[in-house]
Amino acid sequence: MNEKSFDTFYKVQKGSPHRFFVEHSLKFCNKFNCALDLGAGNLIDADFLTTRFEKVVAVDRNSAILDFEKELSNSKLECLVVDFKNAEFEQESFDYISSLMALPFYGKVGFQELISKIVSWMKSDAIFVFQLFGDRHDWNTEASPKKFMSEEEIHKLLGDLNLELVFLKEFEYVMEVGANIGTKFHTFNVIVKKK
Ligand SMILES: C[S@@+](CC[C@H](N)C(=O)[O-])C[C@H]1O[C@@H](n2cnc3c(N)ncnc32)[C@H](O)[C@@H]1O
Repeated sequence: MNEKSFDTFYKVQKGSPHRFFVEHSLKFCNKFNCALDLGAGNLIDADFLTTRFEKVVAVDRNSAILDFEKELSNSKLECLVVDFKNAEFEQESFDYISSLMALPFYGKVGFQELISKIVSWMKSDAIFVFQLFGDRHDWNTEASPKKFMSEEEIHKLLGDLNLELVFLKEFEYVMEVGANIGTKFHTFNVIVKKK
């Protein structure tokens, strides 16, 4: 998937409801001041989050988010066009961070450092809600720059960062709709809490 295919993704997603996983994750959240959505795309989940949080910051490297922001005209939403690599926030700024279908596209190089940087932005007791691609994903070839992880590797990463695992669910399915019909997806939905 590249920026062009994200445009197809945005078209397919347009008008969809927010992700149930995001709504589910709020059950584990205790404070609702400031949330961050990394790789926010169409802003569907970020817009939903503004119904629960005082303020939501949405980050994406694709400037298309500025068009989606204009369409929404939501005063609780702040959109920033920046690559995860260059994103900087003050330590302990957020009660909730989500990154749905986005982190694996960051790639293999510097992945652990990125997660560690994201964790530094969480307040203590904040939660981080994210999806990862599993090692049995069809896209997992040696040549692929995307990041794929086994369940064992995920546990190791979370342990190394001293995060409390709140929820982990594995999915394996063949995509039947959208931009990647026929592709076998292997993904993990993860929720962690900062101790
Ligand atoms: C598959 S879309 C998912 C969008 C949204 N989170 C959702 O679940 O519908 C992935 C998004 O992550 C963004 N993205 C991927 N790599 C990124 C990076 N290194 N920095 C910032 N955004 C990135 C893409 O531009 C795209 O909008």
